[in-house]
Amino acid sequence: MSELSNMGEILVTGGAGYIGSHMCVALLDAGYTVTVLDNLSNSTSESIAAVQRVTNRTLDFVADDLRDAGALARLFGRKRFAAVLHFAGLKAVGQSTADPLAYYDNNVVGTLRLLEAMTAHQVRTLVFSSSATVYGIPDVMPITEDSPPGPINPYGRTKFHIEQILADLQATDPAWRISILRYFNPVGAHISGDLGEDPNDVPNNLMPYIAQVAVGRLPGLRIFGDDYPTPDGTGVRDYIHVDDLVEGHLAALRYLERHPGLAIHNLGTGRGHSVLEMVRAFEAASGRTIPCEIVARRAGDAAESYADPTKANRELGWRARHDVRRMCEDVWRWQQRHPQGYRA
Ligand code: NAD
Ligand code: UD1
Repeated sequence: MSELSNMGEILVTGGAGYIGSHMCVALLDAGYTVTVLDNLSNSTSESIAAVQRVTNRTLDFVADDLRDAGALARLFGRKRFAAVLHFAGLKAVGQSTADPLAYYDNNVVGTLRLLEAMTAHQVRTLVFSSSATVYGIPDVMPITEDSPPGPINPYGRTKFHIEQILADLQATDPAWRISILRYFNPVGAHISGDLGEDPNDVPNNLMPYIAQVAVGRLPGLRIFGDDYPTPDGTGVRDYIHVDDLVEGHLAALRYLERHPGLAIHNLGTGRGHSVLEMVRAFEAASGRTIPCEIVARRAGDAAESYADPTKANRELGWRARHDVRRMCEDVWRWQQRHPQGYRA
C-alpha cells in the first residue's frame, strides 16, 4: 500500500453516507489522510464517529454543501488534495421523478461547483460514483461498459449528464485523471457491525428493507412481481458487498496514478440473484422468517441486471470477493446491533 499512501490527502464528498463512510474506513486503514465534505442531508455525523472508532484514526469533517462555492474555495485553499472521491449526491429514484429540479441542482450543479474548485486549485484526479442505472433497461446480459446508455428516470439522467460533463472536461485538459465507476447493487456492512446503511425513511431498496423486516421494524416484504422471465419469476440483480466496492475505488486510484485520461468501469460481481434467493439467504443468516407478499411489478424495474466485470478485473486488477451469504451476515450484524440505525 506504500504507493497509495504516497498519494497524500483525499477529499471524500458524501463521506458521511453509506458507501462514503465505508470508503473512509478503507482509506484510513490504507494510510491515507482523509477530509470529508458532507451536508448531512441524508446522513448523520454519527457515521463519522463510527469510522473513527473502528479505525482508531481521525479524519477532518467539514459540514458544508457541495454547491457552496465559497465553502469549497476555503476548503481547497487550506488543503492540497491529491484526489477527490465524489460520492455526494441524492439517490432516490422516486423522489427524483417527483422533484427533478432538486436532483439536477444537487447532483449536477453540485458536481459543477466541485469541478470548478478542483480546476482552480489544480486538483485533477477524480473518482466518480456512477451507477448501473445509466444503462436503463438493457436488452443484453451481462452488461458491459459498451452497452448503450439509456437512463429512464431523472436520477439516472443526473448520473449520465455528469459522466458526459466529465468526458468533456477531460477532452479539453488531458491532465485530468478521471475514473467513472458504475456500481451495481451495493449491500453489506462493515464487519464490526458498527457501520452500515441507515436509510432516513422506509427503505426503497431490497436489502435494507429485508433487514428492517427481520429486526421487526417493518411487518413484511412486498415482492414486486413474480412473473418476470427469470428462473423463479422475481427480479434478478448483481448485489455487491460494500467492502468490495470500496476496494474497487482503491484500485481505481492506483490505476489513475499510471493512466491519465478517463476510464469507465463496472463494479459488480458478475452474478445475478433473485429477490427470493436474497430473502432465503437473509433468513439463513439471521435465523428469522421474512414474511413476503407478491404484489404488482414496480414501474421502471428491469427483469434482470448484472455486470460483466471483466474490464475492472483486467484493468484495475480488482474483483469482488464476498458472496451473498457474507453480505447478509454483515447486514444482519449491523441491523441487530443498531435496530434504529445511527439514531439509537
Ligand atoms: P448516501 O445518501 O448514503 O450518501 C450520500 C451522501 O452525500 C450523504 O451523506 C449526503 O448527506 C451527502 N450529500 C448529498 N448531497 C450533498 C451536497 N449537495 N453537499 C454535500 N453532501 C451531500 O448514498 P450512498 O448509497 O452512500 O451513495 C453514494 C453515491 O453512490 C451516490 O452518488 C449514489 O448516487 C451512488 N450510488 C449509490 C448506489 C446505492 O445503491 N447505494 C448505487 C449506485 C450509485
Ligand atoms: C434501484 C433503482 C436504481 C438504483 C438502485 C440502487 C428503481 C426503479 N431503481 O434499483 O435506479 O440505481 O436501486 O440504488 O428504483 N424489490 C422488491 N421489494 C422491495 C424492494 C425491491 O421486490 O421492497 C425488488 C425489485 O423489484 C428488484 C430487486 O428487489 O427486483 C432490487 O431492488 P432495489 O434494491 O430497489 O434495486 P434496483 O431495482 O436494482
